[in-house]
Amino acid sequence: MEIRTEKCNVLIIGAGGAGLRAAIEAHDNGADVILAGKTLLGKAHTVMAEGGINAALGNIDKEDNWKVHFMDTYREGQFLGHPKAIELLVKNAAEAILELEQWGALFDRTPDGKIMQRPFGAHTYRRTCHVADRTGLEIMTAMVEQAKKKGIKNFEEVYITRLFSDGKRVSGALGIDIKKGEGIVFNSKAIVLATGGCARVYRTSTNPWENVGDGHALAYNIGAELQDMEMIQFHPTSMVYPETAKGILVTESVRGEGGILLNSKAERFMERYDPRRLELGPRDEVARAIFTEIHKGNATPHGGVWLDITHKPKDYILKKLPKMYKQFKDFADVDIARERMEVAPAAHYSMGGIAAGPETCSTRVKGLYACGEVTAGVHGANRLGGNSLTDILVFGKIAGKEAASYSKNITFPGIREEGIVEEWKSITAPFNNKGIKPQKIKEEIANVMWENVGLFMTESSMNTALAMLNKWKKEFRNVGVSGGTVYNPEWMDYLDIRSMLVTCEAIIRSALCRKESRGAHFREDYPEKRKEWLVNIFTAKRGEKMVLYKRPVPPLAEGLKKELGEYYEGNKG
Ligand code: FUM
Repeated sequence: MEIRTEKCNVLIIGAGGAGLRAAIEAHDNGADVILAGKTLLGKAHTVMAEGGINAALGNIDKEDNWKVHFMDTYREGQFLGHPKAIELLVKNAAEAILELEQWGALFDRTPDGKIMQRPFGAHTYRRTCHVADRTGLEIMTAMVEQAKKKGIKNFEEVYITRLFSDGKRVSGALGIDIKKGEGIVFNSKAIVLATGGCARVYRTSTNPWENVGDGHALAYNIGAELQDMEMIQFHPTSMVYPETAKGILVTESVRGEGGILLNSKAERFMERYDPRRLELGPRDEVARAIFTEIHKGNATPHGGVWLDITHKPKDYILKKLPKMYKQFKDFADVDIARERMEVAPAAHYSMGGIAAGPETCSTRVKGLYACGEVTAGVHGANRLGGNSLTDILVFGKIAGKEAASYSKNITFPGIREEGIVEEWKSITAPFNNKGIKPQKIKEEIANVMWENVGLFMTESSMNTALAMLNKWKKEFRNVGVSGGTVYNPEWMDYLDIRSMLVTCEAIIRSALCRKESRGAHFREDYPEKRKEWLVNIFTAKRGEKMVLYKRPVPPLAEGLKKELGEYYEGNKG
C-alpha cells in the first residue's frame, strides 16, 4: 500500500469556480492551502455557465437594482431559497464581477464602455454580464491564473474517497492519485467541499463525467446534512444529435439574443405555455413545455424541438454566439445562421446539496465548509440562469475566508492509521472480484433516473427507481474491476457508483417525500404547489440508514423586508 501524506491548513476539494475562489480567499487570509481536483485544472462544469453572470449593475436597464434581483431569485426559486443566502448573493454580485475584471476577465462592453448585460430567463431586467457565450471559461481562466500567480498548491487528478474526523472535527481526507494509482492522505485543519453538482447521475446531462455527487456523499458519510436533493434543474436546451453530442449545452443566451422555439408544426409553442415571457420564461417551465411538445408527437426528426436564430444577421451571431456557431458546425454540420438547431432538455444543475449556513458556509461538522453547486439554499426550487456563477464567487469567497480563519489558531488534528487502512481496503476490494462490471450499473442508474425521477414523476415511477436502487446496492458488493490502480477508468466508475448510490437515494427519497409540484420538482400525481410544503427537506445518515426530516424555510427577516420596501412582493409560497 503506497500512501504518502500532505499537510495543509485548508484542503479545498474541487477545483472548479467555487473551489478556485475559495482557495484564493483562504490563501489571501494567510492559510496554507491545497487545492485538489478530480480532473485537470481549468476543466470544470463552471465553463458550462456559458451565457453569463448576474449582477444588477443597471448598465442597460437603469431601473435594475439588488432588490429586484433579490425578488426575482426568491420568487422564481418558488420561495424555497434561504433569504439570507439570496441577500448575500445579490448584494455582493457587483463586487465579485469587479474583482474578476481586476484579475483580467474582460466582459463585453456597451458602446459607452460599460459591462454589457443581456436578458436571461425570468429576470425582470437585462442583468446577465457576459463574454460572448463563453463566460464561464473566461472566469475560470482568470481564476486559474490568479491561483498560479499566488503559488497555491494544486493537485490535479486526485479522487477523494473519504473524509476523516478525530471524533470532534474534520482531520483530513484520503485521495487517489489517479495518474500514479497511489493513495494520498491530506491532513488538514479545515476542509472546503466545492465538488459541484450531481446532474451526471442522469442519462442526458450537460455535466462532465465527474459530477456524480461525490462531494455530497463525502459530506453525508461524515455526518453533514443534505438538503432539497429533489430539486434538479433540467436546462431547456441541449443538443440532441449526433449521439456523441447528446446533452451538450445549448446556451440560454441563444434565446437571450432572440432565438425562438418552434415545434415540428412550426408553431411557436411557448405562446401557449407562457404568453408573456415566451422563450425567456423560467427554466423549469420552458423545459417542461419542450418535453411536453416532444412527447405530444410534435418532435423534430431527431426527437427535439427547433431553436431558431436565423432571423439575426450572421455577423451578429458570430459576435454574440461564436461558441454555439462552432459547436453546431463541428458536431452536427449545422450552420446556425442559416439553419435551425434541434434541442431538448438535459439535466443541468443541482439546486439541492449540502446544508451550509449562508453567512459562514459551515456545515454541521466542525471544520467542514461547502460552497457552490454542491450546496443547497440559494436557488430554492428553480435557479435563474446566470446566478450560478455569482453563487460560486460570492460563497467561494466566504467559505475560503471562514475556513482560513477557523484553521488559524488550532492544532493539527490526528488521523487514525486504521481509518486509512480500512478505506484503502474498501476502495481496492473490487480488484479481487470477478463480478458485474461497474459501467453496466452506472448506465442503468443513469437510465432509470432519467426515466423515473426526471422532468415528470409519479409515486409509482419513483418507487420503481427505489426498487432498482436496492438492486444496485446488492450488485455493488460484487462489482469487479480489472487491471491495476494506475489510470484505471473502470476503478473510477466503481468509485462513482459508490457516491451515486448515496446521491440517487437522497434524490429519490426527497422527491417521494415532497407531495406537491414546485419549481423543477414536478409530480403528475400532485401537480399543484401547496403552502404546507414551504419546507426544506433534509437527508442525513443515522447508523447505516438514510433518514429524512423537514424544516420550515427560514423566513425573510423584518430588517430585510424593510430594506426591500416597495420591491417586496410578499411570500406567495
Ligand atoms: O445556458 C447557459 O448559458 C447556462 C447558464 C447557467 O446555467 O447559469
